[in-house]
Amino acid sequence: MIFFHEAKKLFHLQGDSYSYFMQVRNGILTHLYWGSRLPDEDVSALIPEVQAYASFDNEYNRLTFEVPTQEKGYYAQRALNVLNHDGDDVLSLRYVSHEIFHGKKALTGLPSAYAEDDADTLVITLEDPLTHVRVHLNYTVYTGFDVLCRSLQVENAGEKDIELKNVQEASVFLPKGEYDILHLKGSHCRERNALRSQLPRGFFSLDSRRGASGHENNPFLAVLEHNADETRGQVYAMTHVYSGSFRLSTDVSIDDRVSMMIGMHPDVFSWHLAPGESFQSPEALLVYSGEGLGGMSQRFHRFIRKRICRGYWRDLPRPILVNNWEATYFGFNEEKLLAIAEKGAKIGCELFVMDDGWFGKRDSDNCSLGDWVVDKKKLPGGLKPLGEKLNALGMRFGIWFEPEMISPDSDLYRAHPDWCLHVDGRERTEARQQLILDMGRKEVQDYLIDALSKVLESANITYVKWDMNRNMTEGFSCVLPSERRMESQHRYMLGLYRVLDEITSRFPEVLFESCSGGGGRFDCGMLYYMPQTWTSDDTDAFERIGIQWGTSMVYPASAMGAHVSVVPNHQTMRITPFETRCNVALGGNFGFELDLSKLSDEDTEKAKAAVRTVKELRTVLQQGTFSRLIDPTRHDNLASWQFVSEDEKQVVVCLYQRRVKPNMQPERVYLQNLIPDARYRNQETGETYSGAALMHIGLNVPSTWTDYDSWVFRFERV
Ligand code: DGJ
Repeated sequence: MIFFHEAKKLFHLQGDSYSYFMQVRNGILTHLYWGSRLPDEDVSALIPEVQAYASFDNEYNRLTFEVPTQEKGYYAQRALNVLNHDGDDVLSLRYVSHEIFHGKKALTGLPSAYAEDDADTLVITLEDPLTHVRVHLNYTVYTGFDVLCRSLQVENAGEKDIELKNVQEASVFLPKGEYDILHLKGSHCRERNALRSQLPRGFFSLDSRRGASGHENNPFLAVLEHNADETRGQVYAMTHVYSGSFRLSTDVSIDDRVSMMIGMHPDVFSWHLAPGESFQSPEALLVYSGEGLGGMSQRFHRFIRKRICRGYWRDLPRPILVNNWEATYFGFNEEKLLAIAEKGAKIGCELFVMDDGWFGKRDSDNCSLGDWVVDKKKLPGGLKPLGEKLNALGMRFGIWFEPEMISPDSDLYRAHPDWCLHVDGRERTEARQQLILDMGRKEVQDYLIDALSKVLESANITYVKWDMNRNMTEGFSCVLPSERRMESQHRYMLGLYRVLDEITSRFPEVLFESCSGGGGRFDCGMLYYMPQTWTSDDTDAFERIGIQWGTSMVYPASAMGAHVSVVPNHQTMRITPFETRCNVALGGNFGFELDLSKLSDEDTEKAKAAVRTVKELRTVLQQGTFSRLIDPTRHDNLASWQFVSEDEKQVVVCLYQRRVKPNMQPERVYLQNLIPDARYRNQETGETYSGAALMHIGLNVPSTWTDYDSWVFRFERV
């Protein structure tokens, strides 16, 4: 619900469990409150107008601007910096008007959350009286989803050109408090490890300048009460529906005022606006949870599953796949692929994914990106007969692409050496022997739409893995005029989104999975087009627990690709039991990534059993409510998480132990989110317990003589 108190110019955005208040004070849109849901009433007198503390500063430095800019005496972080024609960036935004309507509009050119008759939107227009820069602030409140969507549009309603230097699409002030921050840090093969620390004083930022959200920092930040844990305490969190460079920041001022922002990275962005032009920011997703980190994640998960992910596959059980990457790397032919697929079919897999190496003359990673034509040396008959043979085995056919890239050794590069991002006169820095196409150019977009469509039409392909294996260097478009060169990165994203929109609309029943050297672009922007993402190139079961744990802070299990691979593991050389590799992979979209044709009889039986389990459980795993039970970043030996089905009848608890420890007190796992008075039957032992007992007494961690052991407990409500 959105309320407006006319006399007080007070806005109240009321979600299912949060409230967000703003008020126009002396023309300035002022942030008043974000937190637990409140009844609708006039609360403005509870938050008095600020006074200047001493004569040195004026009151402006203590105002809680909804859009902080450079104005009068405001010295803290700014959400918008607009360089006007005279060369200064003073911007005094004042309330002009607002509009409230049922529904939600899509953002032009950008992915964004959508509504299904369950949202209301408020648009507030502010304007600087001198330059006539107008800012339209969009807020969408849902019924049934506890996420507040925010974005803004900057319109040049003046008569002179302006330059956007900094655009943070959401900025909030938090109540004074003792806070921690939690974010997801990593690198290739070590993505999204949850890191919690004390909220630093002064300015803190985490970001990407890479032209992609990146492996290092996921575009997510939570500020949480120091005492908050998985089930208790207040958490304020943000992410956004965007896949490019970004900045998330907090600022604790000298008077303990805490602010938090998300937006474009000012180092790699600026945008030129001629009179009459507008700039649309990405959309931020804000979550307040009064029920700790678990409450935060559950709000994000449901929303991402139902209001970011779209299309045919949104609610469908995801196919169990086998991918040949770690099985063969580039060294395959049709015979090898079919041998893996045949065994996969016997085990119960439903989809075979042919990874990198099927096109051009790509026998290693040093060539052919851009030449999306089948390599007849490896696949003499082409894609169609391969698809038919897979279909005859009862398997769907999936294929790998890396569309945004170009190898210097490719026919495409020889024909269009200027199609890559570059700076004339400077070396074109390669990474993995490849360059990046200038996705901002229409001719590049059209080439890709055409080339990919031809491949997808040429065979019965029902799955695409969309990879992207390097980040930007000299990330500039040579066709943009100098005053617009800094727009290159964002124009790249707009171009990429156009291609994704076109391809996913042309092939609506194809399941798309995004990837970027593993999970280097795991964000809501990509999930809008592709409902799942390859979580990490690290397939080691033990490492994956931490990666999937961190990823689950924001993203649902249905978004995470998780595969069983061979031991010794290719990334760590670690040896873990086959069952544990399966038990970790069932925490996401389950698959295999090994040469199944070489699997021992014993492991084949284990693989079959795992596939049977996943088929029985995948609705619970992919659509259920996820809770984290034992935190591997805090516990030295255990990790555990849990899924409860949407109808609250089935419960699945996964428990992982690192190593055998002799002579220790048995540990316990306390379940969450059960109905205290209901009874749950352990499907293995037949014993029944109340929800209260399972939550408060918990389960005993079984004793074991195996390092890296794991267990999956299944309960049914009776
Ligand atoms: C990186 C991906 O993450 C891998 O799974 C694989 O597809 C390779 N690229 C292929 O080059």
